[in-house]
Amino acid sequence: MQIWEKMGFRDNPYDKDSLEVSEQGSNLFIDRDSESKYFQTVLSSASGGLVMVEGDVGVGKTSFINIQQYQSLKKKDDMPYLLPCFETVEICEPIDTFQILLSVLSHCFQALESILKDEIKKDDRLNEISRLIGQSILSSLSWQAGVSIPGGAGGSVGLGSTKTQTVPAGVSAQILINALDNMQKIIREKYGFEGVYVLLNNLNVISDSGIVALFDRMRDIFVKRKNFWWILLARKGIFSMMERESSRASEMFNGEPIVLAPLPWPEIERAIDLRIKYFRTREDAEPPVPIEIVHLLYDISKGEIRYIFKRITDLVINFKSKYPSTGAINYDEALLTLRQLAAERLKEQRSLSKTDWVVLEKMADAGEFRPKDFQWFGLKSAQSLNKYIQKFLELNLLYRFEEGKASIYRCAGDVKLYYQKK
Ligand SMILES: Nc1ncnc2c1ncn2[C@@H]1O[C@H](COP(=O)(O)OP(=O)(O)OP(=O)(O)O)[C@@H](O)[C@H]1O
Ligand SMILES: [Mg+2]
Repeated sequence: MQIWEKMGFRDNPYDKDSLEVSEQGSNLFIDRDSESKYFQTVLSSASGGLVMVEGDVGVGKTSFINIQQYQSLKKKDDMPYLLPCFETVEICEPIDTFQILLSVLSHCFQALESILKDEIKKDDRLNEISRLIGQSILSSLSWQAGVSIPGGAGGSVGLGSTKTQTVPAGVSAQILINALDNMQKIIREKYGFEGVYVLLNNLNVISDSGIVALFDRMRDIFVKRKNFWWILLARKGIFSMMERESSRASEMFNGEPIVLAPLPWPEIERAIDLRIKYFRTREDAEPPVPIEIVHLLYDISKGEIRYIFKRITDLVINFKSKYPSTGAINYDEALLTLRQLAAERLKEQRSLSKTDWVVLEKMADAGEFRPKDFQWFGLKSAQSLNKYIQKFLELNLLYRFEEGKASIYRCAGDVKLYYQKK
């Protein structure tokens, strides 16, 4: 923090974390007007349901939904008054309905606790739910460790599909579903909320078949729970994949997916200007890096705002730790440091062979490409290019983007920085 204070800021103006459900978050949010309006229309069209928010990595999905939740909490623009979900529920494979339900219940409870504070302790019915969460966590941990709890029910529970799942001894998934329903009733009747937000995240890293399984197993929970808004945060193209693979699942959604594109360049400039003004402690505090550097990072990452913020933060910290008494960093110094940092990160990729590096450099030169472009890389078939693609994807050296039905690939920003010819 000291680094920023010395430069005249009370905090890092390039903080890479998602904007929170808070006044600060809402002050720093660059409007996504049409998407916000669409979201609000969907909310006003039903008392609960499913909404998909899609977008490339680090584009602003969590921030977008957090600010919508804040608007709800403040009842702005006729938004329904819904209990926010301050942290996202992370979905992972294999899909485990019990764990998802437990996580949802405990996130809802935490949100309630942070809004109602001590009042929650006086509520017997909520206390009972809190005990149930504790008991479920305990039994699920001991179940994972292979320990059986005496007197527990355990067993297999079918959840809205022919597939069955084993649940930990002691608490069944159905008990958690009932608790969710109860909680929803209590907060409506006693605390005036109209419903609950649940944010399901991490669909980016779930395989297509995992996503289909999630909807298969959670179908009844998603569709039949009253007054729950299930918000799914996912990579671009998931919804159309679902339409292809399981129309039953895609039909569960309210409205079209909300697709967040990267913020246009002038908006990024505005976002930074806003943060500089918001965090500065001295009127004359200058942005620590020139705007041209931000622009360069914008170009190489195709507008991934989180990448831009992360790299600027790394750059400032690295530079200031070496030269603490200098003022703002100039363009050449900044570029040199960025490239050095990129080189250091790439050096850690010890599993790459000489030919891997050659192909990677060609990919960085190519900009965007598809498997059918294998000849550019001096390869014999799309299949052989695919092998490199898979390897680089796993190492986060490459990103995949969906355009219609086609998958397009592009090198990560660091790879481009490293190979940038200048
Ligand atoms: N509309 C916006 N206005 C201002 N800053 C934003 C906006 N959207 C995103 N940001 C900033 O961009 C960064 C990334 O945002 P966020 O974490 O919401 O992206 P994400 O799409 O959820 O990422 P991931 O794919 O990892 O889940 C954060 O620093 C956040 O503060
Ligand atoms: Mg996110």
